[in-house]
Amino acid sequence: MVDANIVWQDFKLQRQDRAQIKGQKPCLIWFTGLSGSGKSTLSNALDIELHKRHYHTYVLDGDNIRHGLNKDLSFSDSDRIENIRRVAEASKLLVDAGIIVMTAFISPFKADREMVKALFGEGEFTEVFVNTPLHICEQRDPKGLYQKARRGDIKNFTGIDSPYEPPESPDIMVDTSNETTEESIAKIISYLEERKIIN
Ligand code: PPS
Repeated sequence: MVDANIVWQDFKLQRQDRAQIKGQKPCLIWFTGLSGSGKSTLSNALDIELHKRHYHTYVLDGDNIRHGLNKDLSFSDSDRIENIRRVAEASKLLVDAGIIVMTAFISPFKADREMVKALFGEGEFTEVFVNTPLHICEQRDPKGLYQKARRGDIKNFTGIDSPYEPPESPDIMVDTSNETTEESIAKIISYLEERKIIN
């Protein structure tokens, strides 16, 4: 709840003015999926592809944000909720500044992803579900975290002893276990082109 003594300041220069000068439609592309599903790989590849096309982009990634802005947060349900709330607000600031933002967070709870979506207008939010099956993520185990979670050395690990609520109707679904990074990126690019989010 915002204190009643805190009054919103309206600035003359609006989001549309900043977007216009950049010649792009600022928006948020939200990747969600299990640890090891490919969120970071895909957001990085999409970032490169959009950058090549001269779009001004930025990626917020779970591991990185938890080194700074969110270093005080654990993986309890309540801290994951706070993690996503802060990331949503940070994304909103970046979108307001005219940038195409990509985020790579597990974001396991449906209600939080809906909260993020509600902060954005029509065409400004795209949810990408990286639907790589748990057994594949676990086989990959790039950071050895699934192994630690199975041994009980890490508690509250998503997919093991902490839930992941899959999106029911994501805008885009990809599965990095049966498509290449290039195929997944092509899918996302076509979606953005069809909706005139990019040219
Ligand atoms: S969340 O659920 O959205 O708040 O998580 P996120 O900020 O995306 O952070 C996920 C990365 O943290 C590492 N890690 C864990 N993930 C899940 N559960 C537990 N307990 C955990 N502990 C550490 C893990 O490397 C995640 O990175 P990705 O890129 O998703 O594999």
